[in-house]
Amino acid sequence: MATNDQFKALVKSHADGDDSQFYSVAMQVAAKAARAGQDKFAQELRDMVDALRKREVASTRVASVVPVSQPRGELASLLTVSYPDARAADLVLSDDLSERLHHVLHEQRQRDVLSRHGLAPVRRMLLIGPPGTGKTSTARVIAGELGLPLFAIRLDTIITKFMGETAAKLRLIFDALVQTRGVYLFDEVDALAGDRAAANDVGEIRRVLNSFLQFLEEDPSESVIIAATNHPQLLDNALIRRFDTIMNFDLPDQEGVRAVIENRLATFRTSNISWKRVTDASNGLSHAEVAVAAENAAKRTVLSGRKQIRTDDLVAALNDRLRAGAPQPVTA
Ligand SMILES: Nc1ncnc2c1ncn2[C@@H]1O[C@H](COP(=O)(O)OP(=O)(O)OP(=O)(O)O)[C@@H](O)[C@H]1O
Ligand SMILES: [Mg+2]
Repeated sequence: MATNDQFKALVKSHADGDDSQFYSVAMQVAAKAARAGQDKFAQELRDMVDALRKREVASTRVASVVPVSQPRGELASLLTVSYPDARAADLVLSDDLSERLHHVLHEQRQRDVLSRHGLAPVRRMLLIGPPGTGKTSTARVIAGELGLPLFAIRLDTIITKFMGETAAKLRLIFDALVQTRGVYLFDEVDALAGDRAAANDVGEIRRVLNSFLQFLEEDPSESVIIAATNHPQLLDNALIRRFDTIMNFDLPDQEGVRAVIENRLATFRTSNISWKRVTDASNGLSHAEVAVAAENAAKRTVLSGRKQIRTDDLVAALNDRLRAGAPQPVTA
């Protein structure tokens, strides 16, 4: 049986929330019981501890984000959480963007090394570019590669919904940044631009922008902050200056179009495709639209019982996207 000291150690580790100490004392109790010939009890206790430890490993990731992923009260209406498993290889990026992305990932992964020298990793990123070119996807990849939760914040929705209280809501979000390390995506950050506000809201938007600038500047957290916009011309210079890295996204070039299609059609034979015709037909389309066209061509191929994608199917699908007036993709 457990000694009085072991009982006290169990209670103390429970009170401290120190699970590993709790389990280690429980194992000592099991060992003592085994020595005393109580084999059955010792084995049962060991099995229980093993099972609990396994369960704990599986839930560690979830547990660390409970304060925000199951927000009590207001936080729930301000952000949504996801756990992307996206990888850098899923993205088709220009050399410059790819370099910037890998730079951020590298510094984030080495943040302990940096901090030992009093240095902080890059963690404030501004992503600029037309719809469907990979801004949200990049935030998902950073979360996926770093094993962090992704929290998405729609500033325009918050401002419309909480006019007058927006700055207080921003404070809640920036508190969460400190509490739970994650990737925080502030989408449509141009909602903070005075030009977009109705005349009677200009003063309020100005106040919200100032609070946002102040929170950004003073944020002591280790979270990654990503702001995204399709309208960089609306952004205040003071805001742009607050970011460590600016990533300018653009429509894909011919190589990019081909890479998006090949990624999407990885399970099909594409050796017979005439890429010049395909890339010509993609002119002006975003990565997202090219990806949708590739999927449509793939469906047509499957449903007609073929294994090989035909150039004509791809070109027709791309033309469809162009004719559809290049509608904006639905994004996360
Ligand atoms: N650079 C890219 N490489 C590979 N796929 C991409 C890329 N950009 C977009 N896609 C595809 O298009 C979809 C939508 O893209 P994403 O949400 O990243 O666009 P966005 O730039 O955030 O657009 P928006 O400005 O509308 O929010 C992605 O889920 C992905 O399938
Ligand atoms: Mg997006």
